[in-house]
Amino acid sequence: MDEKNQEQWLDTPDPQQFIRNTAKFNDLMMMYRCAIREIRTKLEVLDDEFSVEYKRNPISFIKSRIKKPESIYRKLKKLGYEFTPENIHQQLHDVAGVRVVCAFIDDIYTIAGLLAGQDDITVVEIRDYIKTPKPNGYRSYHMIVDIPVFFSKGKTLMRAEIQIRTIGMDFWATLEHQLRYKQGIEDMEGYENISRELLTCARTVLETDTEMQRIKNMIGQFHDI
Ligand code: GTP
Ligand code: MG
Repeated sequence: MDEKNQEQWLDTPDPQQFIRNTAKFNDLMMMYRCAIREIRTKLEVLDDEFSVEYKRNPISFIKSRIKKPESIYRKLKKLGYEFTPENIHQQLHDVAGVRVVCAFIDDIYTIAGLLAGQDDITVVEIRDYIKTPKPNGYRSYHMIVDIPVFFSKGKTLMRAEIQIRTIGMDFWATLEHQLRYKQGIEDMEGYENISRELLTCARTVLETDTEMQRIKNMIGQFHDI
C-alpha cells in the first residue's frame, strides 16, 4: 500500500478499525488471487482438451494480475466510494484480471463461449471491442464474470475481468499502453498525429488478423483445425 492509501486508512478515527480493515483487505486480495487461479485452471483445461482434439493450442498464453492498492483507491474515489474492503468487493469488477491471448479471432469466441457455458460461471457483462473497436483502435473481448470460490468459511462469489484477444491485438494494446494509456500525454504537442499513427497500426493488425483467420478457414475446409 502506498503512503497516500495508508494515510487514508489511518485517518479512520478508530485504530482498531484500521487494523481490522487491513486484515480484511489482505484476506480479500487472497480471495481474488484464488479466483484468478480458478479461472486460469478452467482456461488451461479447455486449452489442453482442444490440443488433444485438434493438435493445436487456441490459447497462446494467459496473463493475470491483481489491481494495485493505489489503483483500487483511485477507482473507488472516482466512483465516489470510500476505500473499504466491502466497497472493493461490491463496487469494483476488475480487481482480479485475466488476459487470454489467442491464436485466431474465432478462438476468442470459442473460448468465451465455452467459459460462459460453464454452469458455475455467471457472465455479468460483455464488452465486445472486436465487433465495436474503441475509437483509438483498441480491440479485445471483455467479460466480467462472477465465479464461486470455496474457502473454509464457505463459498464466496468473486468478480473478475477477463480480456480475450489475439496475439496481434495484444501486441498493439501492450505497446499502446506503454506509449499512452493512463499516462496523460494527451496534452503533448503532436498528440493528434500520434493518435492517428496508432490507429493506422491498429488497422494493420486488424488486416493481418483477418487475413490469418481467412487462411485458417481455408485450411479448415480440409482439416479439423
Ligand atoms: P478502466 O477504468 O480503465 O478499467 O475502464 P472501464 O472500467 O471503463 O473498462 P474498459 O472496458 O474501457 O477497459 C478495461 C480495461 O481494458 C483497461 O483497464 C485496459 O486493460 C483495457 N483497455 C481499455 N481500453 C484500452 C485502450 O484504449 N488501450 C489499451 N492498451 N488498453 C485498453
Ligand atoms: Mg480497468
